[in-house]
Amino acid sequence: MASISIQRCVIADADALSSLAVATFPLACLPDTTPADMDAFCREKLSSDAFRAYLGTPGCALWIALDNTIPVGYVMSVFGEPSDPDIAGAVKSRPTTEISKLYVLDSHHGTGLAAQLLATAVADALDSGAASLWLGVGQDNIRANLFYEKSGFVVVGTRKFQVGDSFESDFVREKNLHSLV
Ligand SMILES: CC(C)(COP(=O)(O)OP(=O)(O)OC[C@H]1O[C@@H](n2cnc3c(N)ncnc32)[C@H](O)[C@@H]1OP(=O)(O)O)[C@@H](O)C(=O)NCCC(=O)NCCS
Repeated sequence: MASISIQRCVIADADALSSLAVATFPLACLPDTTPADMDAFCREKLSSDAFRAYLGTPGCALWIALDNTIPVGYVMSVFGEPSDPDIAGAVKSRPTTEISKLYVLDSHHGTGLAAQLLATAVADALDSGAASLWLGVGQDNIRANLFYEKSGFVVVGTRKFQVGDSFESDFVREKNLHSLV
């Protein structure tokens, strides 16, 4: 891990973020997610233009992890009220920040990098005054659920998450940040 650095992203990082996001998105998909649905999601939500838009959105922040100069992971957070009323009803503490994306190349799973990326987003959320973090994670994504559980995110609800023309079942998890301070 000595060669790892984590950097706050700027607009110029959009192409690198898109390449990394497209490479890592399949790791979070169900075995029966179709290539067509994955391609559609990558085109709509993970393109360079999409990341330029995220980077230009107030309240949205991204960090990329580099192993030497190679991108190996990223995290994206969004400060503010959840737009989905079901999620707004499930998440208990306010103000809140969404961990919208947290992806690490499988070569770097189990290294502590995901925890470092999450800690970076937690520190920023605390600086923003957030009282909690929330996220959606596939109910069948066992590894990610174990990671979030041990990181203090408890299940507070469910949601449907659209990938192309399909809908996947997510847990909504929340972490209360007051226990840290
Ligand atoms: C989710 C993610 C960021 C977590 O990072 P990570 O480095 O894998 O996390 P960790 O290794 O610290 O924790 C995962 C836990 O699952 C366990 N695990 C390992 N292999 C597993 C497997 N095949 N099945 C289930 N659990 C497994 C690990 O042992 C570990 O628990 P432990 O620390 O108690 O031993 C990373 O796996 C990832 O990028 N996955 C693909 C993208 C994704 O799903 N992102 C989340 C979308 S919401």
